[in-house]
Amino acid sequence: MEKKWWHDKVAYQIYPKSFCDSNGDGIGDIPGIISRLDYLKDLGVDIVWLSPCYPSPLADQGYDISDYYGIDPRFGTMEDMDRLIAEAKKRDMYILMDLVVNHCSDEHEWFQKACEDPDGKYGNFFYLRRKEEGKLPTNWRSYFGGSVWEDLPGTDRQYLHVFHKKQPDLNWENPELREEVYKNINWWLKKGLAGFRIDAIMNIKKAFPFHDYAPDREDGLCSVREMLAEAEGIGEFLGEMRDRTFQKYDAFSVGEVFLERQEELPDFIGEKGYFSSMFDFSETIFGKSGKGWYDAGVITPEDYKNCCFEAQERVGENGLLSNIIENHDEPRGVSYYIPQGDCCEESKKMLAALYFMLRGIPFIYQGQELGMENVPFSSIEEVDDISSLDEYQVALEAGLTAEEALKVIARYSRDNARTPMQWSDAAHAGFTTGTPWLRVNPNYSTINAAAEQKDPDSVFHFYKKLIALRKDPAYRETVVYGALEPYLKEQRNLMAYYRRGEKTLLVMGNFQREEQEVALPAACKRVLLNNYPDADIQDLTIRMQGYQVVILEM
Ligand code: GLC
Ligand code: CA
Repeated sequence: MEKKWWHDKVAYQIYPKSFCDSNGDGIGDIPGIISRLDYLKDLGVDIVWLSPCYPSPLADQGYDISDYYGIDPRFGTMEDMDRLIAEAKKRDMYILMDLVVNHCSDEHEWFQKACEDPDGKYGNFFYLRRKEEGKLPTNWRSYFGGSVWEDLPGTDRQYLHVFHKKQPDLNWENPELREEVYKNINWWLKKGLAGFRIDAIMNIKKAFPFHDYAPDREDGLCSVREMLAEAEGIGEFLGEMRDRTFQKYDAFSVGEVFLERQEELPDFIGEKGYFSSMFDFSETIFGKSGKGWYDAGVITPEDYKNCCFEAQERVGENGLLSNIIENHDEPRGVSYYIPQGDCCEESKKMLAALYFMLRGIPFIYQGQELGMENVPFSSIEEVDDISSLDEYQVALEAGLTAEEALKVIARYSRDNARTPMQWSDAAHAGFTTGTPWLRVNPNYSTINAAAEQKDPDSVFHFYKKLIALRKDPAYRETVVYGALEPYLKEQRNLMAYYRRGEKTLLVMGNFQREEQEVALPAACKRVLLNNYPDADIQDLTIRMQGYQVVILEM
């Protein structure tokens, strides 16, 4: 595998609105991020991905961009952004922005111009269809609920939006649109950005001609995924984008890719792939139902293990996945993957080690390094996220009581990860001196950065040790490139695997609250990391305590 600068890095996702507020307006901002770069450096982070901070009406929290060349005044100025890039550079850190080009905002100039003249240049930047009385162009349901078709204001047309109606899809079949996208990417890379996280990219290729599919719910619509699954030829767009942009700058690109056709994996992240890496979402998708969140099954420790191992096996030596336990679209990993009632310091550290040591590039989502947890919602009024509000309605329509529906939302809501970062036990967790835009998780008095930095046994310090191990010259090659091989895969609630490179490491987590005895394959040379004070190893047996995790050198 040809070595690349990003292979051995550790990445960190910032959700700007909720990270750090510098001016007391209750909204996190870029100066706030700059003020915390030393915190991230101390943790060991190299690459920082910012969720969108471009000008936006924030219908989908910035994933609806109205100007690709600007910074939203709520988040700061372009000078702030330049300063962030420069300050990061000083610390040998890299900044990624979010590339959201499946759609723009309906407040983007292109869309406004398309409304003025749907037959002109900008009409062809979108998917427009002539309106027919009492009939939609197709019966597809958007990801956020309702039809994907909406009236194009002031015209006799309708436009396509696979996400919210304030997120009109861009027409990638139009070369002029593609040129605009590449121009923008290069403009940012030239400024010194290290790359991009690429949003919702599998949606850019549609299946033609548009037609209806069998309805899958009472509303007579079908998931827009049905159409996308039929689309052929996305590789032409992705390859062109790579050649015209990322490749020229040796930029890091990580795709939000939900790949249906596994045989295409090498095309996506192989040596000459479209992207440097792509996220592994297999454990986030597990158990989800086409009917809605209310119908999803729980994920057990065994399921979690199998998801990780299967993803690793699929990729093999074909590239590096980007591994996560959460992001801004998911509940907190510790609340989701650890069985209910068992979320504690030990289990949080265990989950951390198990995912962090997988082959690939580890991404940490803000607050994950503190063990931040889901929010105890007491009413739907506290929920801001549009997809949660839609899923709440879906659950009610399916016959759940309001109380049951709220429980569903509490488990899956994207707002769980979007509450303000918990910096200290000061008011509003030290996130703002004003009123935070979204309620702070009440557990901030115990779970916060200031307290954990002081406590050598904290989750924060455990993450620091994991990162230090990944960077230790003696182990780096093995942790970054070493092959992954499951160990005792059939042993219940044990997730164990080798990393085999210059060294041989064995990562073992007892994914349950009960103790468990595990056979060792050979004598271990040393215990590199342990979330308990001791490891009870006798001959070729280790007696593991509840949620104990160890990393052994064999
Ligand atoms: C991606 C983003 C999500 C957003 C969607 C539409 O999935 O991660 O937050 O709502 O794309 O842009
Ligand atoms: Ca602010």
